Amino acid sequence: MVSEELRQKFLKFFEQRGHKIVASSSLLPADPSVLFTTAGMQQFSLYLSGKKDPIADFGSRHLVSCQKCFRTGDIEEIGDDTHHTFFEMLGNWSIGEDDKGYFKEGAIKYALEFLVDELKMDKSRFTITIFKGENNIAKDDEAAQIWLKNGIPAERIKEFGKEDNFWGPVSAVGPCGPSSEIHYDRGEEFGCGNEGCGPSCEFCKRFVEIWNLVFMQYYKNEKGEYELLPQTNIDTGIGFERLAALLQGKKSAYETDIFLAIIEKIEQTSGKNYEQNKKIFRIIADHARSSAFLLSEGVKPSNLGQGYILRRILRRVMRYGKLIDLKTGFLVPLMDLVIDKYESVYPPLKENKSIIKAGAEEEEQKFEKTLRSGLKKIEEMIELKH
Ligand code: GLY
Repeated sequence: MVSEELRQKFLKFFEQRGHKIVASSSLLPADPSVLFTTAGMQQFSLYLSGKKDPIADFGSRHLVSCQKCFRTGDIEEIGDDTHHTFFEMLGNWSIGEDDKGYFKEGAIKYALEFLVDELKMDKSRFTITIFKGENNIAKDDEAAQIWLKNGIPAERIKEFGKEDNFWGPVSAVGPCGPSSEIHYDRGEEFGCGNEGCGPSCEFCKRFVEIWNLVFMQYYKNEKGEYELLPQTNIDTGIGFERLAALLQGKKSAYETDIFLAIIEKIEQTSGKNYEQNKKIFRIIADHARSSAFLLSEGVKPSNLGQGYILRRILRRVMRYGKLIDLKTGFLVPLMDLVIDKYESVYPPLKENKSIIKAGAEEEEQKFEKTLRSGLKKIEEMIELKH
């Protein structure tokens, strides 16, 4: 299933079940306390907190989206099978209960129905995690019971603490709650074989987290206390790239249709092979994609805030390009491929094509100039010593 089909299937599945499709918000959030959009719920934060009415603005309490996200917290991990700076997150929401609302039971049922009935994934490979209770917030026995009732055996339901199974808020304050995650067991051959290997194993990637179901019941306030929200909400997130990789039988999204054309182009231009240079290829592909999106949203490379992050990403991709002998100018053709792949889903990419390409080109030239002047200084220092 190519990625375009998966994205559409998800949105349609929830639309057919009474959800309103909401377009992705910008990568640059309205909330000035965070630099980037890192989760699908961010554009709905005020609705989830009970401060705004979703019916007034969307005509429904039930929403679904495919959200553009950008994170740099794991930048050193990029190059492995599962991390990206830019990624998409699929999510569904039930905001505030009314007579049509759904909470834990509905969210779990929908998740299983989508993965098992719609995508034909093997349910016996799912391992579920639930919140074991911490910080005066009780263990989520209710979620465990619902999973059991829906055919997940007890030995495949694992309990974790706040670090793994309590989600949010995205900034210092905001809505949050205990979560329950669906992990897919890729099989023993992917495992470390250690006793206790399971979801969030620190030694291997046998278990891939595919869906995070957050039961948003709390608001973390300025004092760091968890207050009960005036309403309960469902907030979910699927890492789109991870799910696409699993469905295409690939170890990593870098080997799916999402990145195929970019990886092939890097092979052609560099004359190097992906298999032997996986980490470098993946970093280049990831950073080309994320910087194209940031440039499209109007971020300009600079030494401050969002612009500084973009500059770091662009300079990083250029440094990695040099490691496989890519010549200055290699980035713009990769950005053309990013635009080709995504313009039908995110039309501003097409409208901003010349801005994206000019931004990348200018930064490549600045970087080249910086490198040349740095080299000249080193040469002068060496000469002075002799
Ligand atoms: N808000 C749920 C998630 O990002 O996983």
